Amino acid sequence: MIQEVKEILLTEEQIQKRVAELGRQITEDYAGKEVVLVGVLKGAIVFFTDLARQIQGDVKMDFISCSSYGSSTVSSGVVRILKDLDRPVEGKHVIVVEDIVDTGTTLSYLLENLQSRKAASVRLCSLLNKPDRRKVDVHVDYEGFVIPDEFVIGYGLDFDEKYRHLPYIGILKEEVYQ
Ligand code: IMP
Ligand code: MG
Repeated sequence: MIQEVKEILLTEEQIQKRVAELGRQITEDYAGKEVVLVGVLKGAIVFFTDLARQIQGDVKMDFISCSSYGSSTVSSGVVRILKDLDRPVEGKHVIVVEDIVDTGTTLSYLLENLQSRKAASVRLCSLLNKPDRRKVDVHVDYEGFVIPDEFVIGYGLDFDEKYRHLPYIGILKEEVYQ
């Protein structure tokens, strides 16, 4: 492991096993239906590509990018769409694929926004859930792991755009961001 990591929270093996389980569950739940996976850039990309390959059936992919103003480790509550979906989702079954639900600000905004586009259904699949920090209530339909209130990196998650490529999820040493 790299020196900026205090502790490995989830190994590559643990993540891959759970992603396969989530893929099987989604495959069952959406049997006979087309699903549009909406990846939230950039944090969800690694999870997104692994998850998509574990789903059998009709899958389409689209991406959206949001920013919540604020510093890199604390989000502010104001959400803005930086890159919208390429296609309309009206009448579609949408699964939003996200890396982590922290305060819930980004997801509550995004889920409401997609629902207002008259999707047939909108569900949320998040690899991580940090419930201790929740400010806005968000229902996570498919959840990988519940984690403690620590700043984590790897498997898509960054600090200052670094560490996204790591195959595991680690707790970042405090001295790196303080
Ligand atoms: P929320 O709007 O507060 O739920 O924040 C969601 C976004 O904050 C995520 O999509 C991540 O990009 C970022 N984030 C929250 N917690 C962490 C973390 O522990 N490590 C890296 N990014 C995080
Ligand atoms: Mg981020």
